[in-house]
Amino acid sequence: MTTLLVTGGAGFIGSNFVRLAAQRGAAERIVVLDKLTYAGNEANLDGIEGAALEFVLGDVADAELVSELVRQADAVVHFAAESHNDNSLRDPSAFVQTNVVGTFALLEAVREHGTRLHHISTDEVFGDLPLGGDERFVETTPYNPSSPYSATKAGSDHLVRAWVRSFDINATISNCSNNYGPYQHVEKFIPRQITNILTGQPAKLYGSGEQVRDWIHVDDHNDAVLTILERGKPGETYNIGASAPGDAHVTNKQVIEAICQIMGGTYEHVADRPGHDQRYTMDATKLREELGWRPRYTDLRDGLAQTIAWYTDNRGWWEGVKGGVEKQYALSGQ
Ligand SMILES: NC(=O)c1ccc[n+]([C@@H]2O[C@H](COP(=O)([O-])OP(=O)(O)OC[C@H]3O[C@@H](n4cnc5c(N)ncnc54)[C@H](O)[C@@H]3O)[C@@H](O)[C@H]2O)c1
Repeated sequence: MTTLLVTGGAGFIGSNFVRLAAQRGAAERIVVLDKLTYAGNEANLDGIEGAALEFVLGDVADAELVSELVRQADAVVHFAAESHNDNSLRDPSAFVQTNVVGTFALLEAVREHGTRLHHISTDEVFGDLPLGGDERFVETTPYNPSSPYSATKAGSDHLVRAWVRSFDINATISNCSNNYGPYQHVEKFIPRQITNILTGQPAKLYGSGEQVRDWIHVDDHNDAVLTILERGKPGETYNIGASAPGDAHVTNKQVIEAICQIMGGTYEHVADRPGHDQRYTMDATKLREELGWRPRYTDLRDGLAQTIAWYTDNRGWWEGVKGGVEKQYALSGQ
């Protein structure tokens, strides 16, 4: 492909995606559109080789700008979003604007120019599952979002499906489980614990820590996105998750314990998050069977060790924002 447009490409998953896509030679030119909110950092794109990289500072909800960038692209991968659940509880307005109105602007541009779109979404659109059971989310599980974040992501998925059905755009969707890995903002669960220990504080476990998440390394997520971009069927949705049916569920408490064990740290219990979802577990059988995708990090401890090494070696990347994030958490007793 000649030109790939990546929205939100200066954020955590987007910047790792641009790095992987460039390494793999997925496009000659990669254009990143990013508003550089508190979660975006242009320096995340430093040192990327393998494609001509162009950075455009702008808003995905800016219809005119988006139309011009989409016109020049062969395909678009849409990561741009407000992505932090806790922030959506404090102030949902940016979530509606970026996640819903931004996706609408992109869909109209894609429709106008006939450009291929891959839309990035989350397992959180499905709501949660009871603890203890073996049921997993499949692509046809009804949507039941809990937070303003997941509700706006659900809204954006519905818009994409409606544009496929009504206007025949060439789009695919993926719903992925919780990501971890390098360049993730320290407000998020795993980097927060790692950086707490690196700054001499205990790790912080929400409530009893029995909640279950289906953790996936960001490189495995992005490898799946590239697979769908290359071989996915137009109009289809694919679940992405690293665990396979029959695998043991991993609780937040087990993740914290693994981090503490690898790093030699301790943890303490803090207040739970309001409406905290109990369990998310993805069934990625369709992606595995139809497109032959497999995750590389099948042992969470290996991925955690790689991630811990990155935060240890890149203190300058996170030290400046750590204090502000902890102050914000302290306000809600976390
Ligand atoms: N982090 C996860 O575990 C996870 C799991 C599944 C799906 N997702 C989805 O993946 C995508 C990326 O998530 P992330 O964790 O990398 O998020 P992030 O918050 O790290 O990055 C989001 C990026 O989007 C940019 N952005 C925000 N508003 C924008 C706007 N109006 N216009 C242009 N750019 C804007 C930000 O500056 C930032 O660079 C999101 O769509 C999210 O819903 C995330």
